[in-house]
Amino acid sequence: MKGFYTALVASAVTGAFAVPSPIVEERQAAAPCTTAVTLTGNPFTGRKMFANKDYTEKVRLAADQITDASLKAKALKVAEAGTFLWMDTRAKIETLEDNIKDVPCGSIAGVVIYDLPGRDCAAKASNGELAVGDISVYKSEYIDPIVAIFKKYPNTAFALVIEPDSLPNLVTNADLQTCKDSATGYREGVAYALKSLNLPNIAMYIDAGHGGWLGWNDNLKPGAKELGTVYKNAGSPKQVRGIATNVAGWNSFDMSPGEFSKATDAQWNKAQNEKQYITLFSPELKSAGMPGQAIVDTARNGVQNLRKEWGHWCNVKGAGFGPRPTSTTGSTLVDAFVWVKPGGESDGTSDTSADRFDSFCGYEDAYQPAPEAGQWNQAYFEDLVKNAKPAL
Ligand code: GLC
Repeated sequence: MKGFYTALVASAVTGAFAVPSPIVEERQAAAPCTTAVTLTGNPFTGRKMFANKDYTEKVRLAADQITDASLKAKALKVAEAGTFLWMDTRAKIETLEDNIKDVPCGSIAGVVIYDLPGRDCAAKASNGELAVGDISVYKSEYIDPIVAIFKKYPNTAFALVIEPDSLPNLVTNADLQTCKDSATGYREGVAYALKSLNLPNIAMYIDAGHGGWLGWNDNLKPGAKELGTVYKNAGSPKQVRGIATNVAGWNSFDMSPGEFSKATDAQWNKAQNEKQYITLFSPELKSAGMPGQAIVDTARNGVQNLRKEWGHWCNVKGAGFGPRPTSTTGSTLVDAFVWVKPGGESDGTSDTSADRFDSFCGYEDAYQPAPEAGQWNQAYFEDLVKNAKPAL
């Protein structure tokens, strides 16, 4: 998508006079790498996040609907940032190739692996297409076809976020029957994904929730044990760099004191921002036998102090786009700030009669009305643009 712009002067001749003509800009795709990419170290260093076609088009359509010229211009900048592509159903796989086939050399494309059986076991909004027990379908109809596509692009760099919320739910929501039912499939599915996607041009980050989730004093060790065990069961794949935090989340990277540091239960959580969370969690991961590098989703964390409680996750009202994707993070443990959640796509429906209605999406601090998870919410997108910090 990103390209060099070549100015071509088109000449137009009217009668005997050559008249000045408009400058026509023609986009030329920057070329992909000509040799195989091997990712070692921080894969974001010296690479730019690739802006995939799907989200770029959504943003362009959204911008078309905005009449205010300055807001429109800001909205269009969102398309340039580079956001992850979510493979949230088997049907989405057919869009993968079209979105990754023209990644220029010097860019890295982000993809989210997100289709476990019994998905989203502790909430309803993102319940998936595969039922508990469908692990062989997950392997053969979801992971395997994705791997086959990645294998066709050895010259392209990819960063993957592996299965948001899944393993963290097994740590903190193990008492829910739905999570009990999902547990075996999550562990087996994530291990299979890690093993199968372990290609030299891919860097993987296993989802680790956020500071308000596994960051509680009592959750750090069990959290690291859960992730580390799955990682080791996968055969300790070389291309796993560590974890992804704050995916589709709202926490600040380094606001200090942290947003909930005055809450009555704050004494039980030293991970009051994502930087602190990673600082505390990374050594635990290493003790559990797993690498501890991190990427942090900063797509929607531009504005703080909006949520009544830390755990409120649905379409938080008043949110703004956050820091742009970059590998300059100020922390050696943090490979990059990335935009994982495509800003403008809903976290869950506010329609109380919908099957996937989750009460969190009906709270006072959740934007309403909101469409089904993953669907576009134009008004919410415009607010993210208006409230962006740094400004777009
Ligand atoms: C939610 C949805 C999923 C969507 C993703 C990104 O988790 O369940 O369908 O792709 O958000 O917007």
